[in-house]
Amino acid sequence: AIPMIIDTDTGSDDAVALLLAAAGGLADVRGVTTVAGNVPLELATRNALISLQVAGADEVPVHPGCERPLLRSPSSAQHVHGEDGMGDVGLPDPWRTPHSEHAVEVLLSYPRHLPGELTLVTLGPLTNLAAALVRDRDLLTRYRHVYCMAGAADARGNVSATAEFNVWADPEAARVVLQAATPDRVTWIGWDVSRKDAVMTPADQLHLERLGTPMAVFAHRINRTVAEWARDVTGLAGYDLPDPVAMAVALRPELVTESEQAHVEIAVGDETRGQMIVDRRRAAAEPNVTLVRRVDETGFKKMLFDTCARTPLP
Ligand code: BDR
Ligand code: CA
Repeated sequence: AIPMIIDTDTGSDDAVALLLAAAGGLADVRGVTTVAGNVPLELATRNALISLQVAGADEVPVHPGCERPLLRSPSSAQHVHGEDGMGDVGLPDPWRTPHSEHAVEVLLSYPRHLPGELTLVTLGPLTNLAAALVRDRDLLTRYRHVYCMAGAADARGNVSATAEFNVWADPEAARVVLQAATPDRVTWIGWDVSRKDAVMTPADQLHLERLGTPMAVFAHRINRTVAEWARDVTGLAGYDLPDPVAMAVALRPELVTESEQAHVEIAVGDETRGQMIVDRRRAAAEPNVTLVRRVDETGFKKMLFDTCARTPLP
């Protein structure tokens, strides 16, 4: 199994990604770090604890991290994921409490114990990782690999016309990470990938619900407000799962069907905040990430349904 740390602003799609990692049998999740994003930090932490509980992974420590972006005011996505970030379905409180060690310390210290072995998957704004990079500029080289759900390769945004939420929420943090990134270390999975290859159609939603296992029912219910948002506000054919598809790539990189090495930057100007720029002028800009463009949709959904069909041991 892949030794892994997951950094998350746990909302309803992060929660599904946590199920894939913690209950799918392919990863050995050593720790979860939380960050403000979809919801304020306290709720992100609560939601991570609940998700791990549902996945039967109560031994995984959850470490709260940064409460606000590096420079910007905090902004959440509670109109999309629900006030609690989990579809407002009245989830009971988790029985565990978070760990006292700060997320940034965890991102810095875990790879010291397991140099070059840990995989880091980031599913929220990149504040924690950027703060850690300020302390250790070579930090990315101490991980086996870093997968980031961030940005949108074709500049079609979900927050603004051109910006994806995770980079829009903390564009300076995304910049710090990209400045330290190299394509052999960092894989970048944008929102465009999930809109193409990880859309939960009404038939998929019904299938998930009918699996009837605790994880499937949980995954279905918590995405209730996201499904409504997709249907009523965006007019799209289903809700998409950006964090789960990024997690699937980290768990099974062979699911990637199209990728390229590219130089990626994030705009921080007022009008262009969070826009992802892909610079392919090789003479001007060295690639800094492996940019995922397409993923095997059938393989991804099989992983999702197979994992949710499992019944974790208590
Ligand atoms: C990203 O923002 C959040 O809404 C999701 O959890 C995902 O990480 C998609 O833009
Ligand atoms: Ca997220």
